[in-house]
Amino acid sequence: PSLPQRPAPSVSLTQFLIEAQRAGHVSPDLRLLIEVVARACKRISIAVGKGALGGVLGEAGSAGEASINIQGEAQKKLDVIANDVLMEANAWGGHLAGLASEEMDHSQPIPDVYPRGNYLLLFDPLDGSSNIDVNISVGTIFSVLRCPDGVTTPGDEHFLQPGTEQVCAGYTTYGPSTMLVLTVGHGTHAFTLDREIGGFVLTTRDMRIPDETKEFAVNMSNQRFWEPPMQAYVGDLLAGTEGPRGKDFNMRWVASMVADVHRILTRGGIFSYPLDSKCAAKGGKLRLMYEANPMSFLVEQAGGASSTGRQRMLEVRPTGLHQRVPVFMGSRREVETAVDYHLRHD
Ligand code: AHG
Ligand code: MN
Ligand code: MN
Ligand code: MN
Repeated sequence: PSLPQRPAPSVSLTQFLIEAQRAGHVSPDLRLLIEVVARACKRISIAVGKGALGGVLGEAGSAGEASINIQGEAQKKLDVIANDVLMEANAWGGHLAGLASEEMDHSQPIPDVYPRGNYLLLFDPLDGSSNIDVNISVGTIFSVLRCPDGVTTPGDEHFLQPGTEQVCAGYTTYGPSTMLVLTVGHGTHAFTLDREIGGFVLTTRDMRIPDETKEFAVNMSNQRFWEPPMQAYVGDLLAGTEGPRGKDFNMRWVASMVADVHRILTRGGIFSYPLDSKCAAKGGKLRLMYEANPMSFLVEQAGGASSTGRQRMLEVRPTGLHQRVPVFMGSRREVETAVDYHLRHD
C-alpha cells in the first residue's frame, strides 16, 4: 500500500485574505474590515452558544414593555446584543464611513472621535431571530459598499446603491458549527470556526450551486395569499411526476434565511419569499439592502441566480434603507423557471 499523502495545509481566514489582497481582490482596508466583522461574529457566536445559560434568550424591552424595531417586530435580546457587538467592533476600526442595520431606524456615520474610512457596512445582526428560543440555527448577514467620493458624513441616501455595487458580502451561520461564507467578487468561499483555536479556517473554496434541483424552500402557510403565477409555479412543483415538471420535489423551510440559503449553497435548491397579499403593501417580506442583496451576491458568485421574480435582484435600484422585495434565489435553471411563470403571467 502507498504511504498516506500529507494532508493539505489548512488556510486561515487571515491567510486567505492576505492572498486575496496580493491578488488585487481586496484593498488593505477592506481586508481589515472583514477581519473586524469576523471577530464580531465570533463574539455573537459565543453569546448564541451560551443559550439559556447566558441569559440571552427571550424578548428585549423592560417592565413588560416590548421593544419594537423599525420593522414593526418585537426585538429579541439577541437582536439587540448582536447589533451592539457589530456597532462597537466596527466604530473605531478606521475602515468605515458609516453603518446601517435592520435594527436601527437610520444609518449612522462613524462618530467624529474616530478616523473615518471609505466603506459603508450594512447588516442584519441576527437573522432568523424567531428561531433563537427554540435552539435552531440563526445567522448574521452583511454587505459592504463604497462610500461615494467626496462624502465624509454619509446619510441614508448614500447607502442606496444597487447590489451590483457591493464589494463584499457574507454571512455567518450559528448552527451545529459556526461558519462564515464570504465573497469579494471572486467566488464564494466557506470557513468553519475552529472553536479550540478561535479562528475561521477555509473549508470550501469556490462553492458551486448545481444548476438544477429537486428541492424548494417556501413558507407554504402563505399559499392562499400568493399571486397567481406563484400559485401556478408551486402547484406544478407539488404535482411532481404527474405534472409538467415531470419530477418529484422535496421541501425544506427553516425560517432562518441564512440557514435556508446555506443549504442551497451547499446542495442546491430554490429559496423563495414571494409577494403575498399580507406583505404586498410593503413590497415583500425580506429586506433588499441587508438580506436579499448580500445573499444574491453570494449566490451569483457560486453560479446561482437571484431575482425578484421579474428582475435580477442585484440590479434593483433601491429607494429606501429598509425596502422590502420578493425573493427567488438558488439553482440557476430553477430560478429561471420561477421567473418564467411570472413573466408569462404579466
Ligand atoms: P429576521 O429574523 O432578521 O427578522 O429575518 C427573518 C426572516 C428570514 O430569516 C426568514 O427567511 C423569514 O423571515 C421567515 O419568515 P416566516 O416566519 O414568515 O416564515
Ligand atoms: Mn427581524
Ligand atoms: Mn433577517
Ligand atoms: Mn434580523
